[in-house]
Amino acid sequence: MIIIGSDHTGIELKNTLIDYMKKKKIEYYNIITDEGKADDDYPDIAYKICEKVLEKNNNLGIAICGTGIGISIACNKVEGIRAALCTDEYMAQMSKRHNNANVICLGSRLEVFKNKNNAINIVDSFINNFYEGGRHDRRLQKIRNIEKLGKSTGDESYI
Ligand code: RB5
Repeated sequence: MIIIGSDHTGIELKNTLIDYMKKKKIEYYNIITDEGKADDDYPDIAYKICEKVLEKNNNLGIAICGTGIGISIACNKVEGIRAALCTDEYMAQMSKRHNNANVICLGSRLEVFKNKNNAINIVDSFINNFYEGGRHDRRLQKIRNIEKLGKSTGDESYI
């Protein structure tokens, strides 16, 4: 399931992506906040999205704020979340193939997302690419080490 949420800056973009998922019969869950109100702060939305993403292994998240930066910083503070701020299809593809990202972050105020098709193609690329494993397992374990141990080494179970 895809969990999608946005702060007040990206409700239109969120709805575009929801329409797309409806059309494609992609199962989604809409994080409904006080839509459009300027006090719907992105860290709260980030946390709600991530909480739900972590409920199931195959869940993915789409997290939107004005630049995509704030919400990606917040998502990446949640243990087990690998959030990738993507502005093109290549980034979205690689965030899955190499980083096994489980959340994609988008910036609703960016020029690239004024075009609905760009947004759809980037999200499509995120959904339809898959983690390659192999050497990337080692790197992801090092990220987990930073998360759990406060340094990149310590658990070398990937060897
Ligand atoms: C809200 O004005 C804006 O700061 C937020 O959407 C986001 O861009 C933060 O990184």
